[in-house]
Amino acid sequence: MSNTEKEIILTGDRPTGPLHLGHFVGSLNNRVKLQNTGKYHQFVMIADLQALTDNAENPEKIRQNILEVTLDYLAAGLEPDKTTFFVQSHVPALYELPMYYSNLVTMSRLERNPTIKAEIKLRNFERNLPVGFMTYPISQAADITAFKAKFVPVGEDQLPMLEQTREIVSAFNRIYKCEILVEPQAILPDNEACCRLVGTDGGTKMSKSLGNCIYLKDDEKTIKQKVMSMFTDPTHINVSDPGHTENNPVFIYLDAFSNDDMFAEYLPEYKNLEELKEHYRRGGLGDMKVKKFLNNVMQEMLKPIRERREEYAKDKSALLEILRKGTEHAIEISNKTVDEVRNAIGINYFSDQSFKDNFID
Ligand code: TRP
Repeated sequence: MSNTEKEIILTGDRPTGPLHLGHFVGSLNNRVKLQNTGKYHQFVMIADLQALTDNAENPEKIRQNILEVTLDYLAAGLEPDKTTFFVQSHVPALYELPMYYSNLVTMSRLERNPTIKAEIKLRNFERNLPVGFMTYPISQAADITAFKAKFVPVGEDQLPMLEQTREIVSAFNRIYKCEILVEPQAILPDNEACCRLVGTDGGTKMSKSLGNCIYLKDDEKTIKQKVMSMFTDPTHINVSDPGHTENNPVFIYLDAFSNDDMFAEYLPEYKNLEELKEHYRRGGLGDMKVKKFLNNVMQEMLKPIRERREEYAKDKSALLEILRKGTEHAIEISNKTVDEVRNAIGINYFSDQSFKDNFID
């Protein structure tokens, strides 16, 4: 199949820090799998413009994290000859399309977006909310539609963004009587624990601003220390007490990351996670033992990722070149969509012959 026949996938990440396990299970992992099917043309975007919407006074943070995130992508298993990596701020279509789309979205619709609502609350913006932040769902619709992406592998928190994008697509195609824009669909992780991974503190979401993350780049010692100090079941005080496995981050992580082979290797007294959970609920199983197992699970998963990262980090010019080439490709593809969009709206004065011919003074 040639590239033009392949269905398109697009995702992005804000470069506000290195990527963590929440990113990995929520989306990165799916991107690697999709990449390796060879069935899609995949774009992965470093969303520096979106990161600026609440970091206008702190651009250095974003600058610092461009190559950091690129390394995390490569470490996770994305490959530049199979996936196009690009930087959002260098793709002109991503500035132009939001200008057209913003006229198709009402303020009250933006205010109802649950992700935006939650983020505003988390950041205590109140009246100091930057306009750019409020409208970033429109910019995100441009990111997706500029490439005519059909699939967007994301975590659950991004579903409202996709809903909003679909509304923009359908309004655009209806108003301008065309079928240019494509309605995207989310690809969610198949394991529920992965959709919205809790933090090591048991908080609702792993998030850099909450300080409850395990990073893909964490070294062995840091991982161990984070796992061993994880929040568990506060009612499980003595080893003999019955414990709760629901809402217990240690068990949630085991749901997300462990498999039966790991039991055979590191904890052969139990066949699988169900047996371990049963023992914990019954009482007589200490948190330390479970955490030691989780540490082994995490180390096994993160070691190859960390090693790949170290390898790629050796050649910084090659990293930059990956981004530069990918960005060039992204510009070329998205400019085609912009041309179609301008034609559909009828603002193609210089390229459309009939524009002047039909002008009657
Ligand atoms: N909003 C996403 C995040 O916070 C980043 C992002 C920007 C994105 N543009 C996108 C994700 C387009 C998917 C598709 O991580």
